Amino acid sequence: METTDTASAAHRYSTGAIILHWIIAIAVIVMWRIAEAAEHAGSKEEAMAVMAHHKALGIVILLLTLARLAWRVIHRPPPLSANLKPWERILAHGTHMLFYVLLVGLPIGGWIASSFYRMGIEVWSVFTLPALPLPKNEDIGHFILEAHAAGGTFLLLLVVLHVAGALKHQFVDRDGNLFRMLPFGTPKA
Ligand code: HEM
Ligand code: HEM
Repeated sequence: METTDTASAAHRYSTGAIILHWIIAIAVIVMWRIAEAAEHAGSKEEAMAVMAHHKALGIVILLLTLARLAWRVIHRPPPLSANLKPWERILAHGTHMLFYVLLVGLPIGGWIASSFYRMGIEVWSVFTLPALPLPKNEDIGHFILEAHAAGGTFLLLLVVLHVAGALKHQFVDRDGNLFRMLPFGTPKA
């Protein structure tokens, strides 16, 4: 029993990493629903009101991701499962790295774009992130938002790939990899 627990612990992400992974995962999915809701809003005012939640949650995701990365430095993640084939290893590492780049880059891009419009970001009346000291230039702001929207769509594609990978490991390979990111079950290797 003792050895199984120790072996599982060696292959499992730390509790802090697991909690942050799932909070961020849910937040990213909510972000996607909010963006959809804004797109289908009846008026420009309504779309702006919905987007205010997008901006606020985006900043929360930025803070959670920075906490996740700091945690990752202190609590090193378990090495990728020994069961992975070389191409799975490259794909998994690449996806994880791009996740972090986008989870930090998208909200910072949104913040920089807002700053070019000379707008700060109101985080649900809890605090306001002030506009960065940039000159008013709506053309550059708009350009950054276009790139931001493309990056956001790319993030969603990565989520599809990531979830497909997790489900393949769970139901096709049956290697217990999903349990590496859950507080129960037995990750095998
Ligand atoms: C929706 C947004 C999601 C994002 C942004 C996300 C992000 C990440 C990141 C960055 C890692 C790497 C952790 C690290 O090494 O620091 C990871 C690992 C993992 N994720 Fe997700 N994830 C999401 C959703 C999901 C979902 C829905 C599932 C399950 C169906 C899942 C299952 C896993 C598993 C099992 C691992 C561990 C991979 C391993 O090391 O074997 N993730 N995720
Ligand atoms: C992890 C955080 C974020 C993600 C995943 C994300 C994702 C997205 C996505 C997918 C879109 C495209 C929506 C569509 O075309 O239907 C979008 C648009 C937008 N985002 Fe974000 N976003 C994030 C953070 C932020 C932040 C912090 C701001 C703050 C200003 C922001 C401002 C905007 C704006 C203004 C648009 C509309 C762009 C346009 O219609 O041209 N986003 N975002």
